[in-house]
Amino acid sequence: MDPSQVKIPPMKDLTVDNITENVHAINSLCEDERLKYILERLVTHLHDFARETRLSSDEWMTGLRFLTEVGQICTEVRQEYILLSDVLGLSILVDSIDHPKPASSTEGTVLGPFHTHDAEEMRAGEAMSHDPEGEPLLVVCSLRDLQGRPIEDVKIDIWETDSTGRYDVQRADRREPDGRCIMRSDAEGMFWFHAITPVPYPIPHDGPVGKLLKKMRRHPFRPSHMHFMFEKEGYDHLVTALYLRNDPYETSDAVFGVKDSLVVDIGKAGPEIAQKYHVPEGHALLTYDFVLVSEAETSELRARNSKIALDKLGRKVKIVNGLPVPDLD
Ligand SMILES: [Fe+2]
Repeated sequence: MDPSQVKIPPMKDLTVDNITENVHAINSLCEDERLKYILERLVTHLHDFARETRLSSDEWMTGLRFLTEVGQICTEVRQEYILLSDVLGLSILVDSIDHPKPASSTEGTVLGPFHTHDAEEMRAGEAMSHDPEGEPLLVVCSLRDLQGRPIEDVKIDIWETDSTGRYDVQRADRREPDGRCIMRSDAEGMFWFHAITPVPYPIPHDGPVGKLLKKMRRHPFRPSHMHFMFEKEGYDHLVTALYLRNDPYETSDAVFGVKDSLVVDIGKAGPEIAQKYHVPEGHALLTYDFVLVSEAETSELRARNSKIALDKLGRKVKIVNGLPVPDLD
């Protein structure tokens, strides 16, 4: 017998009460401490879920069929698993844990299923949307660190729907990216571009996630928003969005993404802005000052939060590579 198997108990006569510890035992040879910890907790919670709900075989098959359908509807441009994670509140929860934000930095929010990797890089002042029905919107933003210093040459992914509330990837006749672009901040940490005023839209609800929402008596709408993603070495990756104030879905976003600090008003360009950015006075204007956090600041905060959260649960852990694993020493 393989000597590494010696500490594994015989897997026989397993019961409702001892199945969990036996699954832990057989997984205990895993050499990746973090993976072992994640699987141990996942199995514990899954088993407790079944014991607590007294899950029936029919219900479990319904769940498996549901997950199968979620997988089957996924394509290159349709990501039903992200959607499922979003409507269960898991996406926003993971983002909050993994990207904690100190006061006065820009909060993160859900990535959603519509980010792509084919957006073209755009120069300052260009238009990211070519929808003639959209309300033209000038967007002028700044990008700073926690100390107020401008951050130059940050890669910024921006994406929004057309005026009907659909992303380009939802159009069967999509030939090239539209309503999305990549920009870089200039030496003053500024970036600006032309877009259209965002509108509310329903998340795709013709698949299994839509059916689930209907059963839960939930609507599928997201409030009007524009997505932003910031990347630069040395800074914590920021995935966020700006939401329009007084949107009918501001307080009932289907994917729980709205945060007060990300809610903005659409203003009007005054004479100075109009002259500087070559738009007529009164042109719709969105301005926002983004604040990025360094990777070092984020990982310190993440580790501190982990310690506090796991202490509360009475769990003895140590932080390895920024993530908790059981402390067995
Ligand atoms: Fe969106």
